[in-house]
Amino acid sequence: MTTTDSAPKIPADRSIPEHIAVIMDGNGRWAKARGLPRIAGHRKGLEMVREMVKACAETGVRHLTLFAFSSENWRRPEREVQLLMDLFGFALDNEVAKLHTNNIRFRTIGDIARFGNTVARKVREAELLTANNTRLQVTIAVNYGGRWDIARACIELARRAVAGEIRPEDISPEVLQQFLSLSDLPEPDLFIRTGGEQRISNFLLWQLAYTELYFTTALWPDFGRTEFDAALKSYVGRQRRFGHTGEQIEAARRV
Ligand code: IPE
Ligand code: IPE
Ligand code: MG
Repeated sequence: MTTTDSAPKIPADRSIPEHIAVIMDGNGRWAKARGLPRIAGHRKGLEMVREMVKACAETGVRHLTLFAFSSENWRRPEREVQLLMDLFGFALDNEVAKLHTNNIRFRTIGDIARFGNTVARKVREAELLTANNTRLQVTIAVNYGGRWDIARACIELARRAVAGEIRPEDISPEVLQQFLSLSDLPEPDLFIRTGGEQRISNFLLWQLAYTELYFTTALWPDFGRTEFDAALKSYVGRQRRFGHTGEQIEAARRV
């Protein structure tokens, strides 16, 4: 009998996730509960981003990917969308130098062009400035959608097929994966969604295939160090099997 892949592929046991992906949800409800405008929740959310980056750097997490604006968030009232773009621009102006000082690499994924030339230029500059930093990589998903990501990879593959560079029958998950966002990173080990909803909302659809999912009712502006540690604790207690049996995993751990 043949198997689809040759190596047993039981990854090393890591108590600290190498890559954490987060849907930062609940800013609006946090503000509403305080009688504040939604943007006040987003501003508080930015403070929590700072804390989360710090916690990851201190804990030894290598990659943190944060969902800041989805390709569906354009459906929100124009004013909220504009304020979110302004806040992102403000964050770029105020946070990038600090990230750089702390040896943290900054990147974005998503169709950034729709945020306008100024933001796109600031993003490019921040990515260039921090390109060689090694302590932690922070990736912000802006105007990102998992379906957009997969469709874009398909367009790239179709182009190559038309140009005769690849045969359609040679397209495999491994080949397609190379054209997706974050293809150079390990897939997320841990996914966290705050705000109580238990859905993916078109975040990293492909990349989350084997990620451990963690949902909390804590709203993002309330997601502090205690909440972060609870997520890590939940992660440590899980057995990741990747299709193997539990016994196979235990045997691999013993050698
Ligand atoms: C998440 O918080 C931030 C963004 C989507 C930009 P929300 O704004 O979705 O907050 P809730 O879900 O309405 O509380
Ligand atoms: C997901 O949150 C997107 C971000 C956090 C950026 P939403 O609040 O937009 O998700 P839904 O609409 O509740 O699924
Ligand atoms: Mg929401």
